Amino acid sequence: MDFLAWSAVGQKCIEATLLTLLPSLDAAPQQLHEAMHYAVLQGGKRVRPLLAFAAGELTQANPATVAVAASAVEMIHAYSLVHDDLPCMDDDVLRRGKPTCHVQYDEPTALLVGDALQSLAFQVLAENKLHVDQSVQLKMVRLLAAASGSRGMAGGQAIDLESVGEVLNLEQLEFMHSHKTGAIIRAACLLGLYCGQTVTPATHASVNEFGRLIGLAFQVVDDVLDAEASTDTLGKTAGKDLEQGKPTYVSAMGLDKSKTLALQLREEAMEILTEFGDRARRLRELADFIVLRKF
Ligand code: IPE
Ligand code: IPE
Ligand code: MG
Ligand code: MG
Ligand code: MG
Repeated sequence: MDFLAWSAVGQKCIEATLLTLLPSLDAAPQQLHEAMHYAVLQGGKRVRPLLAFAAGELTQANPATVAVAASAVEMIHAYSLVHDDLPCMDDDVLRRGKPTCHVQYDEPTALLVGDALQSLAFQVLAENKLHVDQSVQLKMVRLLAAASGSRGMAGGQAIDLESVGEVLNLEQLEFMHSHKTGAIIRAACLLGLYCGQTVTPATHASVNEFGRLIGLAFQVVDDVLDAEASTDTLGKTAGKDLEQGKPTYVSAMGLDKSKTLALQLREEAMEILTEFGDRARRLRELADFIVLRKF
């Protein structure tokens, strides 16, 4: 199966799984539940779930199990986007080609969508059997919690907001990006990995490092696309980083060097996968997609 067909299968599977895990639209409070569906199911590349499926191939994980773990990751991601778009953060009106959650509904609803998605993500991880060994399942819960919190995504978002109008050096930029975006991407890889057979410390370390590199590359490319792509292709307002005075790789080193850096990170990530041979085929293809994507 080529990468496009494989991705389409994974996207369909994750969307079907998310639909079964989200609260029913008939259940009260209906508006909140409708807004949760809106935030989670209206498009998106599903890169994090695809990374989980791909990492799961290293440990022969059952894709149905990975789909559940990956849904939890995607819920955290969707929540982070809803909050990221709020007027008190990036103040965006367009996401995935549609009005942002607070524009479609209202700000209190968008706030609660984030709250509820975050809780649901952990409920999903706790409530579904993801591994025969309960201590492995607990490890997955801890991995996602750490990646989401103040020492992960939320912490990176805090740095992003307090850095508006400032110039960050490359070390500070890397810290911000690997927290606000890299942490969840790294967690997606590790959760997929842990759904399968026993993970040795060496394999954990390799996949962790792959996730770190590709997670950072993902945000470098997001910065490049914000500067270079159109609102139409992105499905979100282009040119916002410059307009809002956000420190990005593009503001720090320019477009060309940022693109070169993304390619370098991909090379380093590919290097790590050598030890896994053919089993890492999908991870390689995803590394290519993340760095070469146009949206
Ligand atoms: C956008 O993430 C926000 C960042 C972390 C850069 P994606 O580009 O993965 O957004 P969707 O899920 O495809 O809409
Ligand atoms: C968002 O970074 C990171 C998170 C949502 C955690 P950006 O603010 O650059 O993402 P976009 O460009 O709005 O998707
Ligand atoms: Mg932001
Ligand atoms: Mg934003
Ligand atoms: Mg961006």
